[in-house]
Amino acid sequence: MNKREFIRTMAVTGLAATAAGRHLTAHATEPAVSAPRGPTDFWDGIRAQYRLDPARVNFENGYYCIMPEPVLEATLARMRDQNLSGSYYLRTRMEDDRLAVRRRLAEFAGCAAEELIVTRNTTESLDTVIAGFDWRAGDEAVMAVQDYGSMLDMFRVQARRHGIVNRMVSLPRHPASDDEIVQLYERALGPRTRLLMVSHLVNITGQILPVRKLCAMAHAHGVPVMVDGAHTFAHLDFQIPDLGCDFYGASLHKWLGAPLGHGLLYVRRDRIADLWPLFGETNFADDDIRKLNHLGTHPVPTELAILDALDFHQRIGSARKEARLRQLQERWTSQVRGVAGLTVNTPADPARACAIANVRVDRLSPAALAQALLEQHRIWTVAIDSDAADVHGVRVTPNLFSTLDEVDRLAAALRALA
Ligand SMILES: Cc1ncc(COP(=O)(O)O)c(C=O)c1O
Repeated sequence: MNKREFIRTMAVTGLAATAAGRHLTAHATEPAVSAPRGPTDFWDGIRAQYRLDPARVNFENGYYCIMPEPVLEATLARMRDQNLSGSYYLRTRMEDDRLAVRRRLAEFAGCAAEELIVTRNTTESLDTVIAGFDWRAGDEAVMAVQDYGSMLDMFRVQARRHGIVNRMVSLPRHPASDDEIVQLYERALGPRTRLLMVSHLVNITGQILPVRKLCAMAHAHGVPVMVDGAHTFAHLDFQIPDLGCDFYGASLHKWLGAPLGHGLLYVRRDRIADLWPLFGETNFADDDIRKLNHLGTHPVPTELAILDALDFHQRIGSARKEARLRQLQERWTSQVRGVAGLTVNTPADPARACAIANVRVDRLSPAALAQALLEQHRIWTVAIDSDAADVHGVRVTPNLFSTLDEVDRLAAALRALA
């Protein structure tokens, strides 16, 4: 980044490049995180807008992404305002403000505001769809063993309650082509299939699935598709209608970096009437998506901070963010692929992975590897040890504040441990 661009970035976010430096020595004399080496680079400038814990390198941004300081400060200001005006605000202005959030989010997602609601998280979004279907005994749903457990559980609940049949596929870790994946799912579809669930990005391995092709295939069989986008919204550069799916759910506290506890649900206009609400709501027409959005009293100030998170994200830009996150992953995985005693469980094809990757050290269990990385190298990751999904390793997820030096250190640590 040239100097002018850097200064503009800092000016628009309204935060000088001090936050990380100010807190670096707060808890430890030898910080595990790399200090920015001055504002020499666009990403140093972005990193400086986060307050980072010097105790450890945070490569566990797959759970959720911490807020940068400008978003955190804006959130706190919104909470103070809310606390000042109390229920007066909730009764007079809240609905207008929530509508503004919905509209801005829909514009960013590329859909109509009438097709999108703000939920608490992906779990609520996708469970609303799964439980909202008018299931009949013998109906079938298709999904993968590598999909997220909460959604698989909600399908199991439908099996117990309504007698549906859940057909499972198992994804290859290193597919040779998109067709291999498409055919795998296609073989599982049958005349009674009523819903296909697809993870846009498999959370335990980081593998990106060819969702657009899967939707086209499923639609050719008359099957609607629900996409688990927990890990792709504001991570990959796309808009929801590009995927051609019928339903899409995401968590905004993940890659958008919004406060914890906010997500979105997209339902294509012509699919809304098919769904029953999870929470009682009879004030809206069957084809009005707001029937699915009865939240009860909830934290409005943090919901409004979605606007601040969008501001931060859009100043960086989706394409630039995706490219940086992929660069961080490829930088360390390329140093360990092919090393004896190490297995990368994530495809090397740039189209099939971005920030997240999973690695195994053959001589260590996933838990022992995660522990060694933390205790010997102060690198925080998460162990994934699932026989059901056939994935064993640690998941590594850098973020916008991660440095090339940190991912190099990870690669060196893995080689030493192997
Ligand atoms: C693929 C996937 N789906 C759904 C979820 C659930 O997200 P949340 O807990 O925000 O509802 C996660 C969480 O990590 C996930 O990785």
